[in-house]
Amino acid sequence: MIQSGAKMLLDKIKNRTAVVGVVGLGYVGLPLAVLQAKTGYRVLGIDEVAEKVARVNAGKSYISDVDETELRQAVSAGRLSATTEFEVLRGCDAVLICVPTPLTPNKEPDISAVVKVTREVAKHAHPDLLVVLESTTYPGTTEEVMVPILTQGGLKVGQDLFVAFSPERVDPGNRSFTTHNTYKVVGGVTPACLDIARTFYEQSIVKIFPVSSPRIAEMTKVFENVFRSVNIALVNELAILCDRMGLNVYEVIDAAATKNFGFMPFYPGPGVGGHCIPLDPYYLAWKSKEYDLHTRFIELAGEINEGMPYYVVAKLQRLLNRRGRCLNGAEIMVLGVTYKADVADPRETPARKVMELLHREGARLSYADPYTPTMMVEGHSYEAVEVTADRLARSDCALILTAHSAFDFDLIVRHAPLVLDTRNGTRHVKGSTANVVLL
Ligand SMILES: NC(=O)c1ccc[n+]([C@@H]2O[C@H](COP(=O)([O-])OP(=O)(O)OC[C@H]3O[C@@H](n4cnc5c(N)ncnc54)[C@H](O)[C@@H]3O)[C@@H](O)[C@H]2O)c1
Repeated sequence: MIQSGAKMLLDKIKNRTAVVGVVGLGYVGLPLAVLQAKTGYRVLGIDEVAEKVARVNAGKSYISDVDETELRQAVSAGRLSATTEFEVLRGCDAVLICVPTPLTPNKEPDISAVVKVTREVAKHAHPDLLVVLESTTYPGTTEEVMVPILTQGGLKVGQDLFVAFSPERVDPGNRSFTTHNTYKVVGGVTPACLDIARTFYEQSIVKIFPVSSPRIAEMTKVFENVFRSVNIALVNELAILCDRMGLNVYEVIDAAATKNFGFMPFYPGPGVGGHCIPLDPYYLAWKSKEYDLHTRFIELAGEINEGMPYYVVAKLQRLLNRRGRCLNGAEIMVLGVTYKADVADPRETPARKVMELLHREGARLSYADPYTPTMMVEGHSYEAVEVTADRLARSDCALILTAHSAFDFDLIVRHAPLVLDTRNGTRHVKGSTANVVLL
């Protein structure tokens, strides 16, 4: 039974007069803020980093998936503004929380940003407010951690405060699937919470998939990332086996992918990166211990994926050895350091680990990446270089860690004496590839 306050909130959502607060203007929050502004809401973005706030207010995008023209239009039309001050939440009808959920150094969930922001929301909360957590987290966070904080002032969930969890699934760099056309899973604490959250997302997102609780929605998101982590680990292990057996793992994957059912291709690489796959599975592994369960698949996948940089370095060492060179003193030109091709995000990139290991072994490193002008490795600052025929020819090995489409793979293969290609970036190269070794 929808109460009158809730009815007013629903009306504001439907006629787009609701004011929407988006907390955390990063890879998830900024695209979401722009989407909500385009939908017609007045959006107030909040971030603790003043520089990001200033850039949003100046209509300047710092996230490659956010179109600067759209951002500028939203700002100049007065539909989007940003601030570092949480007081603006007083005037919001809906608050979407998109702050980071990292791990502690010993791989335990660090939800301190979620807790800090929830306290701020609680401080400024008022009746008829929708609060949705979009950050990835372990099942139970919304109801066990957020609801007790949000209700300290006396608001009643499902009556005058509406709380839900709805995971963000954005795939950075994916032009076909954006927030707007990707199914949005929504779980409310009560049926009224679900009803309001669902109606809110229906205004801007094509497909909504309501679930029975925030816990189901939280579990769905971590399961999706565990699924990727486990399958990547599986194919990484297969790549190691194929290497020993002298088989081309990519040929095996391409052949297997011809099966129209029951198979989905995943590709090996030098490790996993980004803010999701290397972190999120550990959120579930941590929570599962409360239920006397050790999630062995998660731990095993983490072990294999985290071992890949070591495997790459060992393989490179072997290849150089066969040419009478040792890693110490070898000129290694690293190509691509972001965690994913054509994306400017260096977070958790396995390239950092590979470069650290090479640096420790005394390799002389240089790197090229159109998205990363400088990089700190073991206290040493590297500046990106141009990929030229001369540089490639002077190196002992070109090590492809991220196959950006901006790289000229023909040039790389033609001039580098040895190419260790961990991403199959050279697959379309014409002419001889005798100097190319795959992962
Ligand atoms: N990046 C992705 O591809 C992706 C995809 C799906 C889900 N997620 C999840 O979304 C969440 C956010 O990820 P992201 O990639 O956008 O992170 P991000 O680091 O790009 O953005 C988070 C923003 O929150 C701000 N912030 C941090 N603490 C704050 C605080 N206390 N108050 C106000 N602002 C604060 C930061 O300054 C930053 O701008 C995470 O839980 C992540 O797992 C990320």
